[in-house]
Amino acid sequence: MSATFNTNNKRNFLYLMNKAIVLTGITTTGTPHLGNYVGAIRPAIAASKDANVMPFYFLADYHALIKCQEPERVRQSSLEIAASWLALGLDTSNAVFYRQSDVPEIMELAWMLTCVASKGLMNRAHAYKAAVADNEQGGENDPDKGITMGLFSYPILMAADILMFNANKVPVGKDQIQHIEMARDIAARFNHIYGEHFVLPEALIEEHGATLAGLDGRKMSKSYNNTIPLFEPEKKLRKLVNKIKTNSLLPGEPKDPEDCTLFSIYQAFATPHEVLEIRKRYADGIGWGDMKQVLFEHINDHITPARERYEALLQAPEHIEEQLLEGAVKARTISVPFIRELRKAVGISRISL
Ligand code: TRP
Repeated sequence: MSATFNTNNKRNFLYLMNKAIVLTGITTTGTPHLGNYVGAIRPAIAASKDANVMPFYFLADYHALIKCQEPERVRQSSLEIAASWLALGLDTSNAVFYRQSDVPEIMELAWMLTCVASKGLMNRAHAYKAAVADNEQGGENDPDKGITMGLFSYPILMAADILMFNANKVPVGKDQIQHIEMARDIAARFNHIYGEHFVLPEALIEEHGATLAGLDGRKMSKSYNNTIPLFEPEKKLRKLVNKIKTNSLLPGEPKDPEDCTLFSIYQAFATPHEVLEIRKRYADGIGWGDMKQVLFEHINDHITPARERYEALLQAPEHIEEQLLEGAVKARTISVPFIRELRKAVGISRISL
C-alpha cells in the first residue's frame, strides 16, 4: 500500500491535493455491454493509468437495491462488473476499486446529508419526476404509487458516495448531471451549517466516450433490450452482430457510413486509419454480410484477450474478492477518520472520554 494511505494521516486527502480525485460508481444490476464499455469503462480505465488523477471506482451495490429486488441478480452483477473492470486492465495500484457496501461510513454520511437536504430539492429529481409522471399518465390516483423512499432519496446516497472522498470530478452520463448538481447543493448546505468539510464536485461529461448504437440502431441500452454483452462468447457475438439492423441496399451499391449502425460501432473500436479504409469500402459498395464479418472480427480481436482474463477471473472469484477488500481498506483510510470528524462537527461524539 502506498504512503498516500497512511492511516495516521488525519485528513488523508489533503495529501492527495496535487491529484484530482475522480470518482464514479457503477450500479450492480446488469451485465456490462459494449455500450457501457465504450461510454464509461474504457475511458475510466484509461484514467486509472494517469498519474495525475486519483480514481475512486466503486460497485454501487446499495444503489442496486433501488432498482432491483432480486438478490441473485445483484450478486451476479457485482461479480461480473468487478471481473470486467479487472480483466480490462484497471490499474488497482493507482485506482481505489471497492464495493460501496464495504465502506459503511458512506451510509452513515447519507443520513447526515439527508438531514440537511431539502425535500423540495428531491421532488425535482428527474428519476422521481419520471416515476410520478408515469403514474399520472397511467391514471393512478396516487402519484407516488410504487415509489420507494430509496428511489426518492437516491440523489442523497449518490451525494454521500461523492462527498465521502471529496471528489473533484465525477465522470457521468448526461442523465446524471442533475445529481451532481444536487450533491453540490447538499454539500454547500452542510458546509454552511457545520463549516467547510466538503469540496464541491463537478460533473465530467465524457465527450469522446461516445454513446454506442445498439442492435436496432437506437442507443445501446439495457432498457431497449438491444445490447451486445461485452464478454459474449465468440459464437454468440457473431450471432448478435449478424442481427444488427441495416438498410436494404445490395452489395455493389455505394453506401453511406454516416447513418449506418455497423459503421458507427466499428468506429468506436477502430483507429482513424482503419475508419478511412472502411469508408472507402462503403463507397465501393461493400455488402452488409461482408461488413458484418469485418465488424465481428474487429470487435472479437479487440475483446478476446480481456475475455480470456475475464473467464479466468470468474473461475477464481476469490481473487476478485481480494482486490475489492483491498480497495475497501484503502477507501476506509479516508472514510473512517473523515466520518469521525463529521460526527464531531454535527455534535455526535462521546460526552466524556
Ligand atoms: N447513479 C449512477 C448511475 O446510475 C451510479 C452512481 C452511484 C454514481 N453513485 C455514484 C455515479 C456516484 C457517480 C458518482 O449511473
